[in-house]
Amino acid sequence: MSSLMLGACRLEACEADITTLAVDAVVNAANTSLLGGGGVDGAIHRAAGPDLLRECATLGGCATGDAKRTRGYRLPAKFVIHAVGPVWRGGAHAEAESLASCYRRSLELAREVDCASIAFPAISCGVYRFPAEQAVRIAIDSVADALPASPRMTWVVFACFDEPMLRLYEAELARR
Ligand code: APR
Repeated sequence: MSSLMLGACRLEACEADITTLAVDAVVNAANTSLLGGGGVDGAIHRAAGPDLLRECATLGGCATGDAKRTRGYRLPAKFVIHAVGPVWRGGAHAEAESLASCYRRSLELAREVDCASIAFPAISCGVYRFPAEQAVRIAIDSVADALPASPRMTWVVFACFDEPMLRLYEAELARR
């Protein structure tokens, strides 16, 4: 497991099912309805239980690039931050900015409830087909840029679901 210290915050990548991580907040790669789906969205809803969907249904959806917060229910995490990543459409539709915005907004919502730790999946790198190498760079750059505004955040985990993704995060963290 490779890690990077930025101030008092440790950034690291690991190969894990994000629903198992005992962090204050886990970030979900959601869709604009916030009513569940497959991939990490499906895994989080299955692990959190039906009360998660009940709370999501009260939120009125979420725009791409934005995020909304709920409780974590049966998850080890206290909160779920549902971020809606962009669908990759070739790169000329502000996909990079929308993805960066997901990480920024997630950290803002985590700060509002004094989270000291957060886990991110590789947002948009599955069904939404965002090129992984570029997405990983955006993930680490946007978290690094936003961290100074969240001094209480001391642990950021990039939870990878497979080895290739883990290798990309480790290489990017090692480059800093
Ligand atoms: N833990 C960690 N990472 C996971 C998990 C898990 N349990 N399950 C999947 N992943 C990884 C995938 O391997 C991928 O690298 O999360 C990354 C994001 O993939 P998706 O879940 O497909 O998310 P995304 O590409 O952002 O697409 C979002 O998919 O599930 C639907 O409702 C969701 O419509 C939305 C869309």
